[in-house]
Amino acid sequence: MSEKHATLSIEGQTYQLPLITGSEGDKAIDIRTLLRDTGYITLDSGYMNTGSCSSNITFLDGQKGILNYRGYAIEELAERCSFVEVAYLLLIGELPTRDELNSFRELLARYALIHEDMIHFFDHFPPNASPMSILSTMVNTLCNYYPEMSGESDEDMLPVAARLLSKIRTIAAFSYKKSVGHPLVYPRYDLSYCGNFLNMMFDKPVKPYVVLPEVVATLNKLLILHADHEQNCSTSTVRLVGSAGVNLYASISAGVSALWGPLHGGANQAVIEMLEAIHRDNNDFEKYIKKAKDPNDRFRLSGFGHRVYKTFDPRATIIKQACEQTLKALNVNDPLLEIAEKLEEIARNDDYFIKRNLYPNVDFYSGIIYRAMGIPTNMFTVMFAMGRLPGWISHWQEMMQDTTDRKIGRPRQIYTGPAKRPFVPLHERS
Ligand code: SDX
Repeated sequence: MSEKHATLSIEGQTYQLPLITGSEGDKAIDIRTLLRDTGYITLDSGYMNTGSCSSNITFLDGQKGILNYRGYAIEELAERCSFVEVAYLLLIGELPTRDELNSFRELLARYALIHEDMIHFFDHFPPNASPMSILSTMVNTLCNYYPEMSGESDEDMLPVAARLLSKIRTIAAFSYKKSVGHPLVYPRYDLSYCGNFLNMMFDKPVKPYVVLPEVVATLNKLLILHADHEQNCSTSTVRLVGSAGVNLYASISAGVSALWGPLHGGANQAVIEMLEAIHRDNNDFEKYIKKAKDPNDRFRLSGFGHRVYKTFDPRATIIKQACEQTLKALNVNDPLLEIAEKLEEIARNDDYFIKRNLYPNVDFYSGIIYRAMGIPTNMFTVMFAMGRLPGWISHWQEMMQDTTDRKIGRPRQIYTGPAKRPFVPLHERS
């Protein structure tokens, strides 16, 4: 990273702040000594202008719609890799050789089961429990069953990562089977990562599930497109929790909770609920566009807008194409796809959205594909979590292994409450 300086002048004093340029030309002002040198902190609600770390994992450019994992373009990875290959790339930093890929696959197969005692947990969630709540709970619980594999020491992280990547699939599928009262379907050694998940979800003793290559290919693509996205809300949560020295499972469990929010990963579920509402409202697009534009209405177009992308989210472009292909391959005619495309067309020609650079994001079309696969709407964000897991683990690992700049995350604030005042004893308070 090359260095020049910015000059800051405060109350007649000037300060030199180093400028940093990243490997893709991204720029920052290094303010790590600002408080010590000037007595000032910066204020940046939502961290819109603040970098929390340096990272070698993912680069995205919101103006150009670029997303690269470890230097590889998302378009190429989504088209030419399996999710397991991309998970390995994020974790290790290089695409695996054939032998490395086979060994990683072997680890994923070996760790696919969860402890039989954990299955009883599912009996004690209420029937309508949120799959994200179950997921966060079960992932956190893993640290009690596998304390030796919680990644706190600087052990070989690949088996630790493989254990969690494999078990999240089983936990998700088991929680679905429990929710519909069907017998659990255990992971099979002979199926791929995505094929196994689909089989655990949909195979039934009365009607064996046929794992279709098109569906497996689409699921691989979706998981790849969700695999990492630099310092988004949930990844920053994983890093912040982990920065206190918390084990991998509890840090990831916190990331699952952050992803749950409808402004973040929960948007893929909210998009379908919005499209279904429009459908029930006889496709009254005007009503929903008006609500979205009304500053006094909290309603927003779910799946639209992005903190970083001020052009098309490159993932949304790929998912939209995959959506049309998958529904055709599965011979599914979902009216919500037409509603989504119409809503996108209206919004993209409306000044309100154009002026604010609001485009479809990763969540806008993904739910329509999950529906076509038979995945229930309340599990869409679980699918997002499954995809994002290798990214979360990679960022936790990168932070834990940073021996030069690793600190517990502890932002400051500007206090706006009452100035210091004398105590009033109870008997004097009226
Ligand atoms: C993800 O960070 C990541 O990388 C996240 C993610 C990842 O891979 O990890 O990409 C995944 O979370 C995608 C985003 C999913 N969320 C949604 O689709 C929810 C709908 N979108 C918005 O709530 C919003 O766009 C956010 C939360 C995504 C971004 O919010 P920002 O950056 O804080 O932007 P903002 O709220 O300040 O909005 C700027 C303006 C405001 O209008 P004005 O006050 O200027 O008049 O745009 C408006 C907002 O009201 N606006 C919208 C809108 N999104 C922003 N108006 C209507 N509909 C929307 N969707």
